Amino acid sequence: MAHLPPLRVRFGPHRRGAVAAAVAGVLCASALASPAFAAPAPQRDAAEAPAAQAPADDDHLALTPPMGFNNWNSTHCRAEFNEQMVKGMADLFIEKGLKDAGYKYINLDDCWALPERNAEGKLVPDPKRFPNGIKAVADYVHSKGLKFGIYTSAGTKTCSDIGFPGGLGHEYSDAQQFADWGVDYLKYDNCNNEGVDAKQRYTTMRDALKATGRPMVFSICEWGQNKPWEWAKGVGQLWRTTGDISDNWGSMLSIMKKNLPLDEYAGPGAWNDPDMLEVGNGGMTDTEYRTHFSMWSVMAAPLLIGSDLRKAPQSAFDILSNKEVIAVDQDKLGKQGKVLSSENGRWVVAKEMSDGSRVVALFNESDQSQYLSTTAEKAGLPEADGYRVRDLWKHKDTHTSGTIAATVPAHGTVLVRVSPEADWASLPPSVDSGVAGNTVTEPGSAVRVTSTTHNFGGVPVRSVSTRLTGPKGWTIKSESRPGTSELPGGEKLATDWRVTAPEATEPGTYELKLTTTYRTVAGDRVTATSPVSVRLARAPKDGQSYLSDLAPLGSVNGWGPVEKDRSNGETAAGDGRTLTIGGKTWEKGLGAHADSSVEYYTAGRCDRVTAQVGLDDETGDKGTVTFEVRADGKTVARTGVLTNAQAAQEITADVAGARTVTLVATDGGDGNDSDHADWADLKINC
Ligand code: GLA
Repeated sequence: MAHLPPLRVRFGPHRRGAVAAAVAGVLCASALASPAFAAPAPQRDAAEAPAAQAPADDDHLALTPPMGFNNWNSTHCRAEFNEQMVKGMADLFIEKGLKDAGYKYINLDDCWALPERNAEGKLVPDPKRFPNGIKAVADYVHSKGLKFGIYTSAGTKTCSDIGFPGGLGHEYSDAQQFADWGVDYLKYDNCNNEGVDAKQRYTTMRDALKATGRPMVFSICEWGQNKPWEWAKGVGQLWRTTGDISDNWGSMLSIMKKNLPLDEYAGPGAWNDPDMLEVGNGGMTDTEYRTHFSMWSVMAAPLLIGSDLRKAPQSAFDILSNKEVIAVDQDKLGKQGKVLSSENGRWVVAKEMSDGSRVVALFNESDQSQYLSTTAEKAGLPEADGYRVRDLWKHKDTHTSGTIAATVPAHGTVLVRVSPEADWASLPPSVDSGVAGNTVTEPGSAVRVTSTTHNFGGVPVRSVSTRLTGPKGWTIKSESRPGTSELPGGEKLATDWRVTAPEATEPGTYELKLTTTYRTVAGDRVTATSPVSVRLARAPKDGQSYLSDLAPLGSVNGWGPVEKDRSNGETAAGDGRTLTIGGKTWEKGLGAHADSSVEYYTAGRCDRVTAQVGLDDETGDKGTVTFEVRADGKTVARTGVLTNAQAAQEITADVAGARTVTLVATDGGDGNDSDHADWADLKINC
């Protein structure tokens, strides 16, 4: 029988959540069939329940999105989640200036309790983790001028595999216990909910919290299953809109995309929660973490640090304490940014701010640098001759006559705050210089790269010159003029470069540097640099090869790395098994996990890719995946949505003339839970 790899069960919270939800579904179904198993209405511990209260308006508890820390993303239930850690985080909030930057809550997640209640039905803190109890920790946190949060589930047990006691049927007693400990914030999860109506479960706890008389922020964590954005305003101050985030690009991206369209539901005291931050946990690049933080702020999302800051690198602190970005998140108008456009991975999102300005995020989802552009008018600003553009990562002001644009690196975000500016001419013009698109070539073979320098301002810049430099031994020559004596506002300068890497260079990605200098009308000399990546690859040899024997240009994968000749074990390289689809096994192929994409250089010299594709048997009866082959970015072969019940399907793609071939596995439209996508017997003909 197919079974789940053990790591899934321990560390795959959102998938475990899905399992729990499925179990709840099973319970519901049997409840219908058998009256003896009717889903219980949440039992109030009636003795303590006061007469029904009119729900007061508690929105003031989170007039701006809550900011703080939660241990889950860094520790899950591991032993390092304990009193030391929690106190250490409170200390760091002070020492590192995070409290000053606005971070306030220190929150405990699952696994703080013992699995059984005591004889009085009370929750018991785990004495190994919290030898002095919870109140002592809360007191410590309070002594630092911070607030303290705790976790339980709107079910019979919490979500961890051990299953700690949940709040369903114990709402009033548990809420009182939290209040007695000095809790200021409750995250209320969704596992083991016995199929009881979500609104009812969360409203009961809301009332129980109110009945204590202690103000507590109420964080609804039902993963967006019952569209909480439609009913949870007035129940809690924030509600999760998605399954669990994990520390990788694919996960963060898919969650962002689910949360972005919900902008109209957010406002003061009522926040969409796309889950906690991963910044500092190490699974993404700094560019990706800056995107994560920028986009969470533009979405007015709660900012709960999810890394153990005792071990995090300085870059994490630099990102998490960028006050100009935090100010976007915490703006008192409380608007969530709106998507203005999204095309080929180019996302433009604009957030209205209380001072009338707009924050514009130019986010590049794709794997190559792209030119992203919008205008002040499209961002919702009134007509003006000039606007101030504040770059919130570079902390610099420029002016534009209206265009808001930049060459944004792969997975990067340019975040600017724009406002009409009467004195715009006193600011230097906004100038962007960069290379859009991917450059791929073979060592020793010349390739053309085009750089573009735009002046978006209302005045010219002078003595413009651009220079492209590369690693030692590379030949780089301009093929058109690399400079101009004057670049008027609204104009651009394009320069072609011919780039050749020495024959003996190892395949891989190399960074070149584009340096642009100019003088402003005020006479200041400005020098700006931007990275340009060139990928070197060797085309497959003539005849037939297994793609798993060739080095890809790059890959992204939903969980863990794409595995060579093995299935996807979700975590470390090499942790998979023999590729197996419908009982049949293969020695060669790739083990991917949706959402995944693997790109190969084919140099226009190959004509056909073939494979046997399907879901690996190891995920049991779960998972759905669509397989797709792209030639130079264009889809040339695709399966329908495949399920685990299906045998392997043959896929054949005509890739004649393509310079790159990309293998894509998507989640079949239902989230990427258990989507182990096997490309078995994967061959290319060149
Ligand atoms: C669920 C939640 C997570 C986390 C875990 C704890 O998966 O969505 O945020 O609280 O439970 O078990």
